[in-house]
Amino acid sequence: MERTKILVTGGAGYIGSHAVVELYEAGFQPVIVDDFSNSQESSVRGIEDILGVRVACHHIDCGDAEALRAIFAEEGSLRGVIHFAAFKAVGESVQKPLAYYQNNVGSLLTLLTVMQEFGVPHLVFSSSCTVYGVPDVLPVTELTPRKPANSPYGNTKKICEDIITDVVHAPASTVRAILLRYFNPIGAHASAKIGELPLGVPQNLVPFVTQTAAGIREKLTIYGNTYDTPDGTNIRDYVHVVDLAKAHVTAVQRLLDGAGEAVETFNVGTGRGNSVLEVVQAFERATGVKLNYVIGEPRAGDVPAIYADVTKSVQELGFQTTTSLEDSLASAWKWQQTL
Ligand code: UD1
Repeated sequence: MERTKILVTGGAGYIGSHAVVELYEAGFQPVIVDDFSNSQESSVRGIEDILGVRVACHHIDCGDAEALRAIFAEEGSLRGVIHFAAFKAVGESVQKPLAYYQNNVGSLLTLLTVMQEFGVPHLVFSSSCTVYGVPDVLPVTELTPRKPANSPYGNTKKICEDIITDVVHAPASTVRAILLRYFNPIGAHASAKIGELPLGVPQNLVPFVTQTAAGIREKLTIYGNTYDTPDGTNIRDYVHVVDLAKAHVTAVQRLLDGAGEAVETFNVGTGRGNSVLEVVQAFERATGVKLNYVIGEPRAGDVPAIYADVTKSVQELGFQTTTSLEDSLASAWKWQQTL
Protein backbone atom coordinates (compact mmCIF):
# COMPACT_ATOMS: atom_id res chain seq x y z
CA MET A 1 0.00 0.00 0.00
CA GLU A 2 1.23 3.49 -0.83
CA ARG A 3 2.26 5.58 2.15
CA THR A 4 0.42 8.87 2.78
CA LYS A 5 2.79 11.76 2.10
CA ILE A 6 3.19 14.45 4.76
CA LEU A 7 5.39 17.51 4.23
CA VAL A 8 7.46 18.38 7.30
CA THR A 9 8.82 21.92 7.27
CA GLY A 10 11.80 22.25 9.59
CA GLY A 11 12.06 18.47 9.36
CA ALA A 12 15.82 18.53 9.99
CA GLY A 13 15.38 20.50 13.22
CA TYR A 14 15.22 19.24 16.78
CA ILE A 15 11.51 18.42 17.06
CA GLY A 16 11.02 18.02 13.29
CA SER A 17 13.63 15.26 12.96
CA HIS A 18 12.00 13.22 15.73
CA ALA A 19 8.58 13.73 14.12
CA VAL A 20 9.91 12.50 10.75
CA VAL A 21 11.06 9.27 12.41
CA GLU A 22 7.74 8.73 14.20
CA LEU A 23 5.74 9.52 11.04
CA TYR A 24 7.66 6.97 9.01
CA GLU A 25 7.40 4.35 11.73
CA ALA A 26 3.63 4.94 11.86
CA GLY A 27 3.37 4.20 8.12
CA PHE A 28 3.50 7.71 6.62
CA GLN A 29 5.91 9.02 3.98
CA PRO A 30 7.51 12.16 5.44
CA VAL A 31 8.99 14.72 3.04
CA ILE A 32 11.41 17.18 4.63
CA VAL A 33 11.72 20.85 3.76
CA ASP A 34 14.43 22.74 5.62
CA ASP A 35 16.61 25.79 4.98
CA PHE A 36 19.25 24.50 7.44
CA SER A 37 19.49 27.93 9.08
CA ASN A 38 19.33 26.28 12.52
CA SER A 39 19.79 22.60 11.71
CA GLN A 40 22.35 20.35 10.08
CA GLU A 41 22.49 17.82 7.26
CA SER A 42 23.78 15.32 9.84
CA SER A 43 20.33 15.09 11.38
CA VAL A 44 18.92 13.87 8.04
CA ARG A 45 21.60 11.17 8.01
CA GLY A 46 20.64 10.31 11.60
CA ILE A 47 16.99 9.94 10.56
CA GLU A 48 17.98 7.70 7.64
CA ASP A 49 20.23 5.62 9.90
CA ILE A 50 17.38 5.03 12.33
CA LEU A 51 14.86 4.19 9.60
CA GLY A 52 17.19 2.36 7.23
CA VAL A 53 15.66 4.18 4.24
CA ARG A 54 16.26 7.41 2.30
CA VAL A 55 13.92 10.27 3.19
CA ALA A 56 13.19 13.02 0.66
CA CYS A 57 14.74 16.28 1.82
CA HIS A 58 14.42 19.62 -0.01
CA HIS A 59 16.87 22.35 0.91
CA ILE A 60 14.69 25.47 0.59
CA ASP A 61 13.29 28.29 2.68
CA CYS A 62 9.56 27.64 2.98
CA GLY A 63 8.98 31.39 2.82
CA ASP A 64 10.11 31.18 -0.82
CA ALA A 65 6.77 30.68 -2.60
CA GLU A 66 8.21 29.66 -5.96
CA ALA A 67 10.52 27.08 -4.42
CA LEU A 68 7.69 25.74 -2.27
CA ARG A 69 5.35 25.48 -5.29
CA ALA A 70 7.99 23.51 -7.14
CA ILE A 71 8.15 21.01 -4.27
CA PHE A 72 4.39 20.67 -3.97
CA ALA A 73 4.32 20.04 -7.73
CA GLU A 74 7.22 17.58 -7.66
CA GLU A 75 5.94 15.61 -4.68
CA GLY A 76 2.41 15.43 -6.06
CA SER A 77 0.03 13.76 -3.66
CA LEU A 78 0.78 15.60 -0.37
CA ARG A 79 -2.06 15.02 2.11
CA GLY A 80 -0.86 17.27 4.90
CA VAL A 81 1.81 19.52 6.32
CA ILE A 82 3.42 19.74 9.74
CA HIS A 83 4.87 23.22 10.03
CA PHE A 84 7.84 23.30 12.41
CA ALA A 85 10.06 25.72 10.50
CA ALA A 86 10.49 28.85 12.62
CA PHE A 87 12.97 30.84 14.67
CA LYS A 88 12.63 30.05 18.39
CA ALA A 89 15.03 32.04 20.54
CA VAL A 90 13.13 34.36 22.86
CA GLY A 91 16.07 36.70 23.57
CA GLU A 92 17.12 36.96 19.92
CA SER A 93 13.54 37.83 18.97
CA VAL A 94 13.75 40.91 21.19
CA GLN A 95 16.94 41.96 19.34
CA LYS A 96 15.64 41.13 15.85
CA PRO A 97 11.85 41.40 15.86
CA LEU A 98 11.58 41.97 12.12
CA ALA A 99 13.50 38.80 11.34
CA TYR A 100 11.10 36.87 13.59
CA TYR A 101 7.94 38.34 12.07
CA GLN A 102 9.33 37.91 8.57
CA ASN A 103 10.40 34.32 9.05
CA ASN A 104 7.73 32.94 11.39
CA VAL A 105 4.69 34.82 10.10
CA GLY A 106 5.89 35.23 6.52
CA SER A 107 6.60 31.54 5.99
CA LEU A 108 3.20 30.55 7.38
CA LEU A 109 1.44 32.93 4.95
CA THR A 110 3.39 31.45 2.06
CA LEU A 111 2.74 27.90 3.19
CA LEU A 112 -1.02 28.43 3.58
CA THR A 113 -1.19 30.11 0.17
CA VAL A 114 0.58 27.22 -1.53
CA MET A 115 -1.45 24.62 0.40
CA GLN A 116 -4.63 26.25 -0.88
CA GLU A 117 -3.32 26.45 -4.45
CA PHE A 118 -2.54 22.73 -4.42
CA GLY A 119 -5.60 21.69 -2.41
CA VAL A 120 -3.54 20.19 0.44
CA PRO A 121 -6.10 20.00 3.23
CA HIS A 122 -4.39 19.32 6.57
CA LEU A 123 -2.06 21.39 8.73
CA VAL A 124 -0.48 20.69 12.11
CA PHE A 125 1.14 23.81 13.57
CA SER A 126 3.89 24.11 16.18
CA SER A 127 2.57 26.52 18.75
CA SER A 128 3.82 27.07 22.26
CA CYS A 129 2.68 27.47 25.85
CA THR A 130 4.25 30.90 25.55
CA VAL A 131 0.83 32.07 24.25
CA TYR A 132 -0.51 31.78 27.84
CA GLY A 133 1.97 34.42 29.06
CA VAL A 134 2.01 34.53 32.87
CA PRO A 135 -1.11 32.50 33.66
CA ASP A 136 -3.43 33.39 36.56
CA VAL A 137 -4.38 29.76 37.25
CA LEU A 138 -2.36 26.53 37.00
CA PRO A 139 -2.35 24.15 35.28
CA VAL A 140 -3.33 25.84 32.01
CA THR A 141 -6.08 24.35 29.86
CA GLU A 142 -6.62 25.15 26.18
CA LEU A 143 -9.37 27.55 27.35
CA THR A 144 -7.00 29.50 29.61
CA PRO A 145 -7.00 32.99 28.11
CA ARG A 146 -3.98 33.85 25.99
CA LYS A 147 -2.10 36.82 27.43
CA PRO A 148 -0.11 39.52 25.67
CA ALA A 149 3.13 37.89 24.56
CA ASN A 150 6.28 38.81 26.46
CA SER A 151 8.51 38.57 23.38
CA PRO A 152 8.25 39.00 19.60
CA TYR A 153 8.82 35.23 19.36
CA GLY A 154 5.77 34.59 21.56
CA ASN A 155 3.77 37.09 19.56
CA THR A 156 4.57 35.31 16.29
CA LYS A 157 3.07 32.12 17.77
CA LYS A 158 -0.13 33.97 18.76
CA ILE A 159 -0.38 35.69 15.39
CA CYS A 160 0.18 32.41 13.54
CA GLU A 161 -2.56 30.72 15.61
CA ASP A 162 -4.92 33.56 14.67
CA ILE A 163 -3.99 33.48 10.98
CA ILE A 164 -4.60 29.72 10.79
CA THR A 165 -7.93 30.05 12.61
CA ASP A 166 -9.11 32.79 10.23
CA VAL A 167 -8.00 30.84 7.16
CA VAL A 168 -9.75 27.65 8.32
CA HIS A 169 -12.95 29.56 9.10
CA ALA A 170 -13.10 31.35 5.74
CA PRO A 171 -16.26 30.20 3.88
CA ALA A 172 -14.38 28.67 0.95
CA SER A 173 -11.62 27.18 3.09
CA THR A 174 -10.17 23.84 2.09
CA VAL A 175 -7.82 23.67 5.08
CA ARG A 176 -8.32 22.04 8.49
CA ALA A 177 -5.77 22.46 11.26
CA ILE A 178 -4.56 21.35 14.65
CA LEU A 179 -2.56 23.77 16.77
CA LEU A 180 -0.24 21.99 19.21
CA ARG A 181 0.92 24.09 22.13
CA TYR A 182 4.22 22.57 23.25
CA PHE A 183 5.48 22.90 26.78
CA ASN A 184 9.25 22.31 27.22
CA PRO A 185 10.62 19.65 24.85
CA ILE A 186 13.72 17.83 26.11
CA GLY A 187 15.75 14.69 25.47
CA ALA A 188 16.64 12.79 22.34
CA HIS A 189 15.87 9.66 20.36
CA ALA A 190 16.80 6.45 22.20
CA SER A 191 19.27 5.60 19.41
CA ALA A 192 21.16 8.86 20.11
CA LYS A 193 21.37 9.34 16.32
CA ILE A 194 19.29 12.54 16.46
CA GLY A 195 18.83 15.15 19.17
CA GLU A 196 19.09 18.85 19.92
CA LEU A 197 21.94 20.70 18.17
CA PRO A 198 22.10 24.16 19.73
CA LEU A 199 24.14 26.76 17.84
CA GLY A 200 26.69 28.39 20.16
CA VAL A 201 25.90 28.73 23.87
CA PRO A 202 22.60 26.95 24.61
CA GLN A 203 19.81 29.21 25.85
CA ASN A 204 17.61 26.33 26.96
CA LEU A 205 18.03 24.52 30.25
CA VAL A 206 18.65 20.89 29.29
CA PRO A 207 21.35 21.39 26.63
CA PHE A 208 23.10 23.72 29.06
CA VAL A 209 22.88 21.04 31.76
CA THR A 210 24.29 18.31 29.50
CA GLN A 211 27.08 20.56 28.19
CA THR A 212 28.00 21.45 31.77
CA ALA A 213 28.04 17.78 32.75
CA ALA A 214 30.26 17.10 29.72
CA GLY A 215 32.70 19.80 30.81
CA ILE A 216 31.99 22.11 27.84
CA ARG A 217 30.52 24.73 30.21
CA GLU A 218 32.01 25.42 33.61
CA LYS A 219 28.73 25.69 35.51
CA LEU A 220 25.00 26.02 35.14
CA THR A 221 23.45 29.24 36.42
CA ILE A 222 19.96 28.71 37.80
CA TYR A 223 18.04 31.87 37.00
CA GLY A 224 16.67 32.84 40.41
CA ASN A 225 15.48 30.96 43.50
CA THR A 226 13.11 33.47 45.05
CA TYR A 227 10.06 32.84 42.88
CA ASP A 228 6.76 32.00 44.53
CA THR A 229 7.23 28.24 44.02
CA PRO A 230 7.99 25.47 46.58
CA ASP A 231 11.80 25.65 46.14
CA GLY A 232 11.89 29.16 44.68
CA THR A 233 12.99 28.14 41.18
CA ASN A 234 10.84 28.27 38.02
CA ILE A 235 8.44 25.47 37.23
CA ARG A 236 7.99 24.03 33.72
CA ASP A 237 6.42 20.99 32.08
CA TYR A 238 9.27 19.03 30.48
CA VAL A 239 8.03 16.71 27.73
CA HIS A 240 10.19 14.11 26.04
CA VAL A 241 10.75 15.00 22.39
CA VAL A 242 9.76 11.51 21.17
CA ASP A 243 6.47 11.75 23.06
CA LEU A 244 5.98 15.20 21.53
CA ALA A 245 6.81 13.81 18.08
CA LYS A 246 4.15 11.11 18.54
CA ALA A 247 1.55 13.80 19.32
CA HIS A 248 2.08 15.03 15.74
CA VAL A 249 1.40 11.59 14.30
CA THR A 250 -1.81 11.39 16.34
CA ALA A 251 -2.80 14.88 15.17
CA VAL A 252 -2.15 14.05 11.50
CA GLN A 253 -4.23 10.88 11.83
CA ARG A 254 -7.07 12.83 13.45
CA LEU A 255 -7.10 15.30 10.56
CA LEU A 256 -7.05 12.49 7.98
CA ASP A 257 -9.93 10.79 9.82
CA GLY A 258 -11.94 14.02 9.63
CA ALA A 259 -12.54 13.87 13.39
CA GLY A 260 -13.14 16.93 15.54
CA GLU A 261 -13.63 20.59 14.62
CA ALA A 262 -12.09 22.30 11.59
CA VAL A 263 -9.50 23.94 13.83
CA GLU A 264 -8.54 22.56 17.23
CA THR A 265 -5.96 23.35 19.87
CA PHE A 266 -4.22 20.88 22.18
CA ASN A 267 -1.66 21.26 24.94
CA VAL A 268 1.28 18.88 24.60
CA GLY A 269 2.87 18.38 27.97
CA THR A 270 3.07 15.77 30.70
CA GLY A 271 0.67 17.52 33.05
CA ARG A 272 3.45 17.66 35.63
CA GLY A 273 5.38 20.72 36.74
CA ASN A 274 9.05 20.41 37.75
CA SER A 275 11.30 23.10 39.15
CA VAL A 276 14.74 23.88 37.76
CA LEU A 277 16.28 22.38 40.91
CA GLU A 278 14.23 19.22 40.45
CA VAL A 279 15.55 18.94 36.90
CA VAL A 280 19.12 19.23 38.19
CA GLN A 281 18.48 16.58 40.86
CA ALA A 282 16.71 14.28 38.40
CA PHE A 283 19.63 14.64 35.99
CA GLU A 284 22.10 13.67 38.73
CA ARG A 285 19.96 10.67 39.71
CA ALA A 286 19.46 9.54 36.13
CA THR A 287 23.10 9.82 35.08
CA GLY A 288 25.14 9.56 38.25
CA VAL A 289 26.94 12.74 37.16
CA LYS A 290 27.25 15.57 39.67
CA LEU A 291 26.34 18.95 38.20
CA ASN A 292 28.21 22.14 39.00
CA TYR A 293 25.64 24.91 39.44
CA VAL A 294 25.16 28.30 41.07
CA ILE A 295 22.10 30.40 41.75
CA GLY A 296 22.04 33.59 39.70
CA GLU A 297 19.71 36.48 39.01
CA PRO A 298 16.27 35.87 37.48
CA ARG A 299 16.26 35.99 33.66
CA ALA A 300 14.23 38.83 32.17
CA GLY A 301 10.87 37.69 30.82
CA ASP A 302 10.81 34.28 32.57
CA VAL A 303 7.37 33.02 33.58
CA PRO A 304 7.52 31.89 37.24
CA ALA A 305 5.54 28.69 36.71
CA ILE A 306 3.59 27.00 33.95
CA TYR A 307 2.49 23.43 33.27
CA ALA A 308 -0.19 21.78 31.20
CA ASP A 309 -3.62 20.48 31.97
CA VAL A 310 -3.66 17.53 29.57
CA THR A 311 -7.30 16.44 30.05
CA LYS A 312 -8.33 17.58 26.56
CA SER A 313 -5.36 16.05 24.77
CA VAL A 314 -5.85 12.75 26.62
CA GLN A 315 -9.62 12.57 26.15
CA GLU A 316 -10.09 14.07 22.66
CA LEU A 317 -6.78 13.63 20.88
CA GLY A 318 -6.10 10.34 22.64
CA PHE A 319 -2.53 11.36 23.38
CA GLN A 320 -0.55 10.82 26.55
CA THR A 321 3.16 11.07 27.30
CA THR A 322 4.90 7.97 28.64
CA THR A 323 8.49 9.03 29.39
CA SER A 324 9.56 10.05 32.89
CA LEU A 325 11.68 13.12 33.60
CA GLU A 326 14.64 10.88 34.55
CA ASP A 327 14.42 8.85 31.35
CA SER A 328 14.10 12.03 29.28
CA LEU A 329 17.21 13.47 30.92
CA ALA A 330 19.10 10.19 30.52
CA SER A 331 18.36 10.30 26.78
CA ALA A 332 19.64 13.89 26.61
CA TRP A 333 22.85 12.78 28.33
CA LYS A 334 23.33 9.80 26.00
CA TRP A 335 22.93 12.18 23.03
CA GLN A 336 25.41 14.67 24.52
CA GLN A 337 27.94 11.89 24.94
CA THR A 338 27.69 10.90 21.28
CA LEU A 339 28.26 14.50 20.12
C1 UD1 B 1 10.75 29.44 26.48
C2 UD1 B 1 9.29 29.54 26.10
C3 UD1 B 1 8.94 28.52 25.07
C4 UD1 B 1 9.88 28.61 23.91
C5 UD1 B 1 11.29 28.40 24.37
C6 UD1 B 1 12.21 28.55 23.18
C7 UD1 B 1 7.76 30.23 27.85
C8 UD1 B 1 6.99 29.82 29.04
N1 UD1 B 1 8.46 29.27 27.27
O1 UD1 B 1 10.92 28.29 27.24
O2 UD1 B 1 7.64 28.75 24.59
O3 UD1 B 1 9.54 27.66 22.93
O4 UD1 B 1 11.60 29.38 25.34
O5 UD1 B 1 13.54 28.60 23.56
O6 UD1 B 1 7.78 31.37 27.44
N2 UD1 B 1 17.13 28.09 33.05
C9 UD1 B 1 18.15 28.25 33.96
N3 UD1 B 1 19.43 28.32 33.51
C10 UD1 B 1 19.75 28.22 32.18
C11 UD1 B 1 18.70 28.05 31.24
C12 UD1 B 1 17.40 27.98 31.71
O7 UD1 B 1 17.91 28.34 35.17
O8 UD1 B 1 20.92 28.31 31.84
C13 UD1 B 1 15.74 27.99 33.52
C14 UD1 B 1 14.85 29.10 33.02
O9 UD1 B 1 14.88 30.22 33.86
C15 UD1 B 1 13.49 28.39 33.00
C16 UD1 B 1 13.83 26.93 32.74
O10 UD1 B 1 15.21 26.79 33.02
O11 UD1 B 1 12.88 28.49 34.26
C17 UD1 B 1 13.59 26.52 31.32
O12 UD1 B 1 14.21 27.45 30.45
P1 UD1 B 1 14.29 27.25 28.88
O13 UD1 B 1 14.79 25.88 28.57
O14 UD1 B 1 15.03 28.41 28.32
O15 UD1 B 1 12.80 27.26 28.40
P2 UD1 B 1 11.63 28.34 28.65
O16 UD1 B 1 12.18 29.67 28.92
O17 UD1 B 1 10.70 27.75 29.64
